[in-house]
Amino acid sequence: MKISLDSKNHTDIDADILGVGVTEDTLNSALAVLDAAFDGTLLTALTNEDFKPTAGSTATFPTFGKIAAKRLMIVGLGDGGTLGFQGAAGAVGKAARASGSLNIAIDLGSMTASQTQIAIEGFVAGNYKFDKYKTGDDKKSGVENLVLLGETVESGVAIGEAVAAGQSLARDLVNEPADAIYPESLAQVARDLKSDKLTVTVWNEDQIEAEGMGGIMGVGRGSDRKPRFIHMKYTPEGTPSKKIALVGKGVTFDAGGYSLKPSAGMLTMRCDMAGSAAVIGVMKAIRELEPDAEVHGIVGAVENLVSGNAYKLGDILDMYSGKRVEIHNTDAEGRLVLADCLHYASQLDVDAIIDLATLTGAAVVALGDHYVAMFTEDDGISSGLKSSAAEAGENVWPMPLPGEYKSMLKAEWGDIKNVGGRSAGCITAALFLSEFVEGAPWCHLDIAGPAFLDKGHKHMAAGGTGSMVPTLTRWITG
Ligand code: BES
Ligand code: MN
Ligand code: ZN
Repeated sequence: MKISLDSKNHTDIDADILGVGVTEDTLNSALAVLDAAFDGTLLTALTNEDFKPTAGSTATFPTFGKIAAKRLMIVGLGDGGTLGFQGAAGAVGKAARASGSLNIAIDLGSMTASQTQIAIEGFVAGNYKFDKYKTGDDKKSGVENLVLLGETVESGVAIGEAVAAGQSLARDLVNEPADAIYPESLAQVARDLKSDKLTVTVWNEDQIEAEGMGGIMGVGRGSDRKPRFIHMKYTPEGTPSKKIALVGKGVTFDAGGYSLKPSAGMLTMRCDMAGSAAVIGVMKAIRELEPDAEVHGIVGAVENLVSGNAYKLGDILDMYSGKRVEIHNTDAEGRLVLADCLHYASQLDVDAIIDLATLTGAAVVALGDHYVAMFTEDDGISSGLKSSAAEAGENVWPMPLPGEYKSMLKAEWGDIKNVGGRSAGCITAALFLSEFVEGAPWCHLDIAGPAFLDKGHKHMAAGGTGSMVPTLTRWITG
């Protein structure tokens, strides 16, 4: 998508759709020129339609040749706050996706740099589609040219484009079938991001085994597609202002192993690498934005399948950290993969470790599809992520890490079991992870709900969402 700035007025700009953003207060002034071009019928039509300018609300009109644009879309900016720009631009992007429009112009009024940024993010997210496997008529083109009218800030465009590209990559990786994205092909996506400042190291199954990563090896044993351990590292020029490690769960398909999932629960389990997709998406954005932070992206990539060689209930895995884990449920595999990655990250001498994972159904039960469950005892990380999420239009919600619940993980034969009891499933999963982190403040983000939507929500289409790419990119670069 080519994005450019223009100062043409509403009547002269040629586009398939012209989107104009309004608030309750600006409705009359923003539409004055257009209303005149439509002989005073536009504002009347909006009143007749009972149009309310809440964020992302829309009213669309044919233009009958009265202005150069073919269709006119009035979009609500809500109360004029930053997230209104995301919703409004997202709604235009989504309408363009639905009609396969190639040329779009939008005027959302006067925007600051961060408002311009989020408008671009919203537009790209709204226009996103994953229809590469369709062969028929419902395959639609994405927008080729986006023209921004009104007062916009060019630096915001560039930052928004970088974040949006990272988020779209994450969405693609999640949406791709597990037959296309498996450990080695995921590793190849990471390798393709290599640049001057971004190195990528991939360990194959022999190296993972030799290093003693028994969690990753155990889970990955049941698949013919062997595990990969991926370490991306972005190094800034000069002394880094801070050092961050991002760790992603990369279970490219989760059948559950011998604790087999029922079909309905398995259907969307290509999404189980969404944590790693977010990590890779953030690294892509970081590569463009070049912050002064050192950023590590670590991914454990495996498939959790059933075979004559798969790990079994009652097995005891020898983890990278040296701990021994007793397997009570082969479907609690993500924590085993993450445990080895977290122990690796613990050796990197970083200031913070953040992991992202579609870890538990329990997190979805607790917070639903639109809140990320955030587990951390570090107040700085907690408030930082909370405010970055608020800026990005994402939601994180703090969850407790009560030490006394660790007793639920007490093992009979090994050091620790890989599941707790029936209650507090996302908390015992987080407590399990905490056993493998040392030496740096840590935060676990359970994105099982928001990472993948069964049906579209606001301007987001169903499927992968690129959850936390906008938030984490802001948190690292801000
Ligand atoms: N990948 C799943 C969690 C999940 C569920 C992600 C729904 C996205 C949507 C994870 O590996 C899993 O199976 N967790 C089990 C843990 C249980 C066996 C302790 C779960 O949540 O049921
Ligand atoms: Mn599982
Ligand atoms: Zn899983």
